[in-house]
Amino acid sequence: MEIFLDTSSIKDIKKWDNLGFISGVTTNPALLSKEKGMPIELLKEICALMGERPVSAQVTAESSEKMIEQGIYFSNLSDNILVKLPSNLSGYKAQIKLSQLNIKTNITLCFDPVTDCLFAKAGATYVSMILGRSEDFNLQQSSLIKRTRAIFEHNSFDTKILGASFRNPQQIELAMSQGADVLTIPPNSLSMLFNNPLTNGGLKDFEDAWKTINDNDKKTYDNF
Ligand code: E4P
Repeated sequence: MEIFLDTSSIKDIKKWDNLGFISGVTTNPALLSKEKGMPIELLKEICALMGERPVSAQVTAESSEKMIEQGIYFSNLSDNILVKLPSNLSGYKAQIKLSQLNIKTNITLCFDPVTDCLFAKAGATYVSMILGRSEDFNLQQSSLIKRTRAIFEHNSFDTKILGASFRNPQQIELAMSQGADVLTIPPNSLSMLFNNPLTNGGLKDFEDAWKTINDNDKKTYDNF
């Protein structure tokens, strides 16, 4: 299982990449819109930072013809770019062409295992199953990845299942436990994983207990 970072922030990429477990980055127009400067320059900078690791760049074109043109343009920017296409008919037509050109893709806004199956048959590299966005609207998607996994295994598809749109550690755990190949995690959700209130509360308890020992007695333990 791999972990990608779902962001367009250079600062966050540098911060989290230091820990050594980031295998790629996913961007989208909303994430790029949060950063300063020209999106295409930012995309190139992200690609350079990631080296050979994959970076997903989402098309903004709406027709399949334009998606294909934009996809080719993106793929010429850097060897590690994957073209992110929407899970709709225009995206599907673009997928067919990009497969013929051996351009890797990441299908986004996937909410239906059957649609995923069609994109897998057409050669998609990843399908991004969106968990948080569903729950934002109180839609039950708790078995989405599990159902897709079953279909993919039954058909021996090479397409990887990417869990995305996480809002909290529970959604990340669900995607992990249901067999996602990759999880793309936003920086704030990653921060939550290292800031469990029970961990922090437990540390405070230990610190308070330690203060009850007199300084001389604990000196040999603390001085190292
Ligand atoms: C993944 O493909 C998308 O970039 C992302 O996870 C969507 O997340 P959002 O629902 O937070 O916009």
